[in-house]
Amino acid sequence: MAVIGVWSVKGGVGKTTLAVDMAWRSAVVSGHRTLLWDLDPQAGCSWLLGHDAPSPPRMTSLFHRDARPQELIVETRWPDLALLPADESLRGLSIALARIGHRRRLAQLTSRLTSDYARIILDCPPVLNEISDQVIGAADLLIVPLPPSPLASRALDFIRRELVRNHQRHPPILPVLSMYDSRRRLHRDVHQGLAAGWPVVPMATAIEQAAVRRMPIGAFANWCEASMRLQKLWDAVEAKLRLREIARV
Ligand SMILES: Nc1ncnc2c1ncn2[C@@H]1O[C@H](COP(=O)(O)OP(=O)(O)OP(=O)(O)O)[C@@H](O)[C@H]1O
Ligand SMILES: [Mg+2]
Repeated sequence: MAVIGVWSVKGGVGKTTLAVDMAWRSAVVSGHRTLLWDLDPQAGCSWLLGHDAPSPPRMTSLFHRDARPQELIVETRWPDLALLPADESLRGLSIALARIGHRRRLAQLTSRLTSDYARIILDCPPVLNEISDQVIGAADLLIVPLPPSPLASRALDFIRRELVRNHQRHPPILPVLSMYDSRRRLHRDVHQGLAAGWPVVPMATAIEQAAVRRMPIGAFANWCEASMRLQKLWDAVEAKLRLREIARV
């Protein structure tokens, strides 16, 4: 089993879009039993997969151990893809985690799902607090989407410093150049400079349409250029996870 965290301190960079797409590819293309865990009270993943917020809101009770993940997990329309939907209670998650005082509670919860899921994908809100600390602690790999802009490269420096300073045994990170538009000079410069060798996700209509259709891109436009780029990203994730598994043996 592997846990993949999608995180950045920057908002609106494509985290949720990538988390949903990777979860779909993991389940439908790679055939892994996959859980997408929506940790953001905005509930973007849940909404993109066509799920409305569950009622009553109980997600935070998982972290208090008043409920088991299995009680809240729902199946999606896609085979092998399950969802732990976000709800209103997540607004208080950071404070609840600080009160609980267990820095590896999320890691503990994901490790208990080992026999049920081969891949768990965590969609993290754009925060630097207890929630991001727990995601870093639980993940085997961190995906960090960054659009081509000086502020995004500053965010990457910030994230690297944060990992070195506060997370001695942090997972490897896979930065992704997101929302790339090859017509723009600045984007091309970043692509050839700072982001050379990173997986690239283009700014694309098909990706925007995923939010309109409330479906993963691959489910309605699998053969477009953007979907092929997303598949390359998923292949890079799987390759990184395999290397990690080999290193463990
Ligand atoms: N590659 C892309 N091409 C076109 N639109 C995109 C692309 N990636 C994301 N978007 C759009 O940008 C917006 C923000 O994307 P998304 O919600 O995935 O970002 P986020 O990082 O999860 O945001 P937040 O920090 O608020 O959680 C959405 O409307 C999404 O449809
Ligand atoms: Mg998001």
